Amino acid sequence: MSTVNKALRAALDSRKDLLPQLHAEATDCYRLFHGSQEGAGGLTVDRYGPQLMVQSFHQPLERDDLLALHEAINRELGQDLLLVYNDRSRGNSRIDRQDTVYQADEAALVDLVGHEWGLNYRVRGRHAGQDPLLFLDLRNARGWVKANSQGKSVLNLFAYTCGVGLSAAAGGAREVVNLDFAEGNLAVGKENGALNPHLPAMGFVQSDYFPAIRQLAGLPISQRRGQKLPSYARLEQRQFDLVFLDPPAWAKSAFGTVDLLRDYQSLLKPALLATADDGVLICCNNLAKVALDDWREQVLRCAEKAGRPVRDWQVITPAADFPSQDGQPPLKTLVLQL
Ligand SMILES: C[S@@+](CC[C@H](N)C(=O)[O-])C[C@H]1O[C@@H](n2cnc3c(N)ncnc32)[C@H](O)[C@@H]1O
Repeated sequence: MSTVNKALRAALDSRKDLLPQLHAEATDCYRLFHGSQEGAGGLTVDRYGPQLMVQSFHQPLERDDLLALHEAINRELGQDLLLVYNDRSRGNSRIDRQDTVYQADEAALVDLVGHEWGLNYRVRGRHAGQDPLLFLDLRNARGWVKANSQGKSVLNLFAYTCGVGLSAAAGGAREVVNLDFAEGNLAVGKENGALNPHLPAMGFVQSDYFPAIRQLAGLPISQRRGQKLPSYARLEQRQFDLVFLDPPAWAKSAFGTVDLLRDYQSLLKPALLATADDGVLICCNNLAKVALDDWREQVLRCAEKAGRPVRDWQVITPAADFPSQDGQPPLKTLVLQL
């Protein structure tokens, strides 16, 4: 057995209790191998419903290892999962679309459906973007939202494919607004809504974060000297009962820079102001090099300064399919009670 497959064996053994629990919760999207913590850095293996998604980030996987891994997982789960291998070891973690190591069957690349907390999600092995359509380490946070949205107005910022919004709708939110600047990501969010026809319809706002959140917060939209701003969606000032803020690590647009390392405050302050009195703001930071304790202090200080002091806070950690040897998982999530 190769080193990779030995490490996979140990990872499957360590999930013996977790997987039946997830299946009982109507979840079939989860991580089966979290390489950086389980003995093969740069390799991840995820189940997305009927699909097995293998991704390599440092070097391509050997074909024999890939096929042995697929077989071992099928045997363990008693399934015949459709294999997709996305080698992302080239520049900027881009998928090698030549499929030098392994080409997926057509059946593995058609539109599929996966499940989480009883909800249906669009699964697509290949699409215009690089990442799978659902980030699995956020599952516990989506579960929290589902359990705590009854009767609330919910704003999902940097919504991507709107999993957080869908969870809020399933949890009985009276209104859900998903905001993202990428039309393609919101389009998948709309598909996710359509895949759950029993839920009330969600709202979608296609906009850059900065002008949108500053309008909602009642703050001016700053113009860089001498530079005309592109047009942006007009929104009325208002607050939401539950706001979810999960930005990417870094992104630059005409309106500002998202930079979780150097400037979390400029994202957080307007989001705090757009959260109702007695409301809840859930914020995330997925940068591994930012320590939870330091970031939490920064967040609490920022809230104090913005005149929205935090009455109580709670940490949500990813589930056991994202083990972390040092207890410091890259994705940190804070629930702030304002
Ligand atoms: C890491 S994903 C967020 C994950 C998401 N919260 C979830 O629940 O899966 C980053 C998202 O931010 C969006 N984005 C990046 N910069 C943005 C900006 N300036 N304004 C609006 N959306 C932005 C991207 O289009 C992408 O959908």
